[in-house]
Amino acid sequence: KIIVLDFGSQYNQLITRRIREFGIYSELLSHKITAEEIKEMAPKGIIFSGGPNSVYDEGAFKVDPEIFNLGIPVLGICYGMQLMTHALGGKVEAADNKEYGKAQITVTDKDTVMFKGLPKEQTVWMSHGDLVTEVPAGFEVTATSANCPISAMANVAKNFYALQFHPEVRNTEYGNDILRHFAFDVCGAVANWSMADFIDMQVAKIREKVGDRKVLLGLSGGVDSSVVGVLLHKAIGDQLTSIFVDHGLLRKGEAEQVMESLGGKFGLNIIKVDAKERFMDKLAGVSDPEQKRKIIGNEFIRVFDDEATKLKGIDFLAQGTLYTDVIESGTDTAQTIKSHHNVGGLPEDMQFELIEPLNTLFKDEVRELGEKLGMPHELVWRQPFPGPGLGIRVIGEITEEKLQIVRDSDLILREEIAKHGLDKEIWQYFTVLPGIRSVGVMGDGRTYDYTVGIRAVTSIDGMTADFAKIPWDVLQEISVRIVNEVAHVNRVVYDITSKPPATIEWE
Ligand code: XMP
Repeated sequence: KIIVLDFGSQYNQLITRRIREFGIYSELLSHKITAEEIKEMAPKGIIFSGGPNSVYDEGAFKVDPEIFNLGIPVLGICYGMQLMTHALGGKVEAADNKEYGKAQITVTDKDTVMFKGLPKEQTVWMSHGDLVTEVPAGFEVTATSANCPISAMANVAKNFYALQFHPEVRNTEYGNDILRHFAFDVCGAVANWSMADFIDMQVAKIREKVGDRKVLLGLSGGVDSSVVGVLLHKAIGDQLTSIFVDHGLLRKGEAEQVMESLGGKFGLNIIKVDAKERFMDKLAGVSDPEQKRKIIGNEFIRVFDDEATKLKGIDFLAQGTLYTDVIESGTDTAQTIKSHHNVGGLPEDMQFELIEPLNTLFKDEVRELGEKLGMPHELVWRQPFPGPGLGIRVIGEITEEKLQIVRDSDLILREEIAKHGLDKEIWQYFTVLPGIRSVGVMGDGRTYDYTVGIRAVTSIDGMTADFAKIPWDVLQEISVRIVNEVAHVNRVVYDITSKPPATIEWE
């Protein structure tokens, strides 16, 4: 394995991910780790991540200098390079021009390993305020750029390499090749790791941590908590109790699917709380979107708390926190604060330890993990679904009749999108019910019924989105089916706005 020491860069976990993509196990560890501890782990290589500090800052992250005497290859990236320089007797200074973004580097002939077979001129991603102005003894400059004369350096004899730019970021043209050269050629690592190993490792870890104690999990019906559920169940079986709050705002068939699949096939012990009435009571007469969101969020926590309080002897709370959820923190203290925040309003006297087995993974890795665990495709590849559920897809006041229309029309949309093979390319698709009714004609009679809106977008992360260009004939089929099959609908419209200026959801 190759370990990455965390100095606080936003990209740190991306490095471990790239290494894992090579089939080599990699994990992110605190920079406080000692050389002795590393020696025991016997990694093939060590990578120092970037970080926001300057090596001269008070309290700047340091490393145990003995790490350089272990005989293990080290790659320093950005701050990692400066730290290495500082620790080994070179010079680091504040740059005249801070550099953020793409830069051109020229590779020198001094390093035939990291840049092996790559063009001399290449585009890289820089993001730094300080730079190395003098390499430590034994090092050579291996790449230069206009703003950063020492863009890369190496001490080939000792297997110490350093890059001022970020090879883990896609904008660095040959970043993956450079990392690959470090992993395979410098460290001599072997590609023998897969997601199946991750499962075995996590199972062992969870068993060791939990022992014979008990764990509680809140299932939402989403991908992340479901995967955590199946993974934990594999590790500790019935020591896991899951609570599934059905707030009545899920899509058609969703609650049943969770119960059948996770509760049935996978055998999880699930307490299903039917809280539909509680939610509908609280939401009665409320039409303001923000207020609706708050009510749903708060009520969710209350219901969960009520159930959790009834259970006795639980020591752990499991959560489906992903790496992207903890991205701003990464290390010890900050991470706990954020996770605690996720727990929301758990009663003060309930002291849980957290278990977050997915917090080193990215979303697509979680999906891969789910598939490896044998979970159904529809569950693992489920499109994003907002916590407040259909509550924000019925515009204005929520009634059971309106929810029914959204559920039924949404199911038709999902069926048609799948039937036409569009479910992979469209990022998110759903129907909404604006509170308007319009005049129509059906058979020989006049109708005065609801309008259903179709929303379908392409996106990468939901931050920005384009409306999906669904073919006319598919839209037509969907429209015909919705009007024919869903009671009280006589008109269908298609939302052709992007985000921004609109948002993906209507509320
Ligand atoms: P908007 O509507 O803000 O949505 O463009 C962006 C993405 O976030 C989802 N979304 C939510 N997810 N809790 C969630 O977990 C929420 O309260 C929430 N609101 C919106 C939305 O479905 C889209 O994928």
